[in-house]
Amino acid sequence: MLIRTRQNNPIRPSEITPEPIYKDRRRFLAGGAALALGLNLAPALAAVTSKNDLPKPFADVATGPYATDEELTDYKSVTTYNNFYEFSTDKQTPAKLAKDFAARPWTISVEGECNNPKKWDIDELIKAFPPEERIYRHRCVEAWSMVVPWIGFELGKLIKHSEPTGNAKFVEFETLYDPERMPGQKAGFFGQVLDWPYREGLRMDEAMHPLTIMTVGLYGEYIPNQNGAPIRLIVPWKYGFKGIKSIVTIRFTEEQPRNTWNVQGPSEYGFYANVNPQVDHPRWSQAKERRIGELLKRPTLMFNGYAEEVADLYTSMDLSKHY
Ligand code: MTE
Repeated sequence: MLIRTRQNNPIRPSEITPEPIYKDRRRFLAGGAALALGLNLAPALAAVTSKNDLPKPFADVATGPYATDEELTDYKSVTTYNNFYEFSTDKQTPAKLAKDFAARPWTISVEGECNNPKKWDIDELIKAFPPEERIYRHRCVEAWSMVVPWIGFELGKLIKHSEPTGNAKFVEFETLYDPERMPGQKAGFFGQVLDWPYREGLRMDEAMHPLTIMTVGLYGEYIPNQNGAPIRLIVPWKYGFKGIKSIVTIRFTEEQPRNTWNVQGPSEYGFYANVNPQVDHPRWSQAKERRIGELLKRPTLMFNGYAEEVADLYTSMDLSKHY
């Protein structure tokens, strides 16, 4: 992950506009009501080719626990300042190159050490585990942060449904590998940018924590392609690279899974990746962060402000070794 200077950052406070779609929630009551009634939206989605064709089914979902009441980052910044190396290594291009990515139909396979493996159609999954809104701080290892109204369901619910065996100690996630649809996966002049497919992992207790969500929407709509359509992980007390996008496989494993950025730079990116202002990245401090839309940096909070909820997962660990 590259550091970008302020001059490279296209987002200035003057450009920040509130998200009218989100403010006018009633416009999407019909879609929300359809979801509440359990109506099957899948047939309508079969013909969907671009984001604009999609219904906005999440406008009226319930608000979940743990939400921060901090000011939301505007919709435009959330959806145009992205890390998604399957499309591009810069932050502005994923929104452009992922515009026509077809995120439906989509199958996500739950497999490995469990008694109830299943290949889920994305809309079947959303129907089985109705999502709720979770407003979370989103902190990238590059020291910028946002506050995003994600829409998702607890990964723990899907895990329980999948009945992991006693051997399941970790959960591994994989992004789609399809260089035709994700042009950043094609080898360039200098070879491959990353060792595809993008992979991530969590320890089972982290995966079961109620803060950990499988995210299928934001700002009341289906999650835009550049943010990881149709389903991604959000673990709000960890650096953003744990939030693997466009997931096709969830696998229960006995061994700790390899995770992409740790493979890429083991001295810089660990497996745990807990937000920790006391443990610097070897090339820069992690003590402060720049909230997108704000001029002055603010101090970074331990576990991204979620210490009360998650610190006891790590009591016996030296977090400077297990970074
Ligand atoms: N997932 C995949 N498959 N590919 C990626 O390049 N980038 C990660 C993470 N998930 C990435 C990914 C990083 S470094 C960050 S900071 C977040 O996605 C960014 O999420 P956002 O673009 O929704 O803010």
